[in-house]
Amino acid sequence: MTVTLRQGRPEDLGAIVRLEEAAFAGDRFSRRQLWHLLNRAHALTLVAEDEHGALLGYGLLLFRRGSSRVRLYSFCVHPTARGGGIGRRLLEALEAVARERGGERLELEVRVDNRVALGLYRRAGFRLRRWLDDYYADGCAGWQMEKTLVAPCEGRVV
Ligand SMILES: CC(C)(COP(=O)(O)OP(=O)(O)OC[C@H]1O[C@@H](n2cnc3c(N)ncnc32)[C@H](O)[C@@H]1OP(=O)(O)O)[C@@H](O)C(=O)NCCC(=O)NCCS
Repeated sequence: MTVTLRQGRPEDLGAIVRLEEAAFAGDRFSRRQLWHLLNRAHALTLVAEDEHGALLGYGLLLFRRGSSRVRLYSFCVHPTARGGGIGRRLLEALEAVARERGGERLELEVRVDNRVALGLYRRAGFRLRRWLDDYYADGCAGWQMEKTLVAPCEGRVV
C-alpha cells in the first residue's frame, strides 16, 4: 500500500467525519465543528491517503495569532490501518509544518489511558506538562503534553 500525505481540503469533510467515527469511541468532533476547522485560516489539516484516495488518517493543527504555540487538536488513524507507521509519519509531518509556520512549541492533550498514543508522543520527544482532571466526557483524566520544536539545523555541532 502506498500512503501519501497531503494537506486536507474542504471536500475531505465527509471522509474525515467517517474517520472520526471509526477512530474515536467518544469526544468526537461533529460534522459542523469539522467544517469550521477545515475552513478556518488558523487551522491546518494533513491527511494520509492510500493509492485509491481513501483517507487512512488525519491530524489537525491550530495556530494562534501572535503566538508561537501550536496545538495538535485532532489526530487519528483508521483502526484497519494502524500499526504500520502512518501515525508516526503523520505526527512527524505535522511537527514539520508547525515548525515551518513559525511554531516553537507543539501542545496536545491525550487520555491517560491511551497507552499507544502516549507511547508514540513520548518517543517523539513530547513531555508531560500538566494533569487534566476529569477532562474527557466520560470523566477520564488527560495529560497535556508539549514538545519544543527545533529547526533541523539547530543544535548541530559542526
Ligand atoms: C495513536 C494512533 C494515531 C497511532 O497510529 P498508528 O498508525 O497505529 O501509529 P504507528 O503505526 O505509527 O505506531 C506508532 C507507535 O505506536 C506503536 N504501536 C502502534 N500500535 C500499537 C499497539 N496496538 N500496541 C502497542 N504499540 C503500538 C508502534 O510500535 C509505534 O512505535 P514507535 O513510536 O516506537 O515506532 C492510532 O492508534 C489512533 O488513531 N488511535 C485512536 C485515536 C487516538 O488515540 N488519537 C490520539 C488522540 S490524542
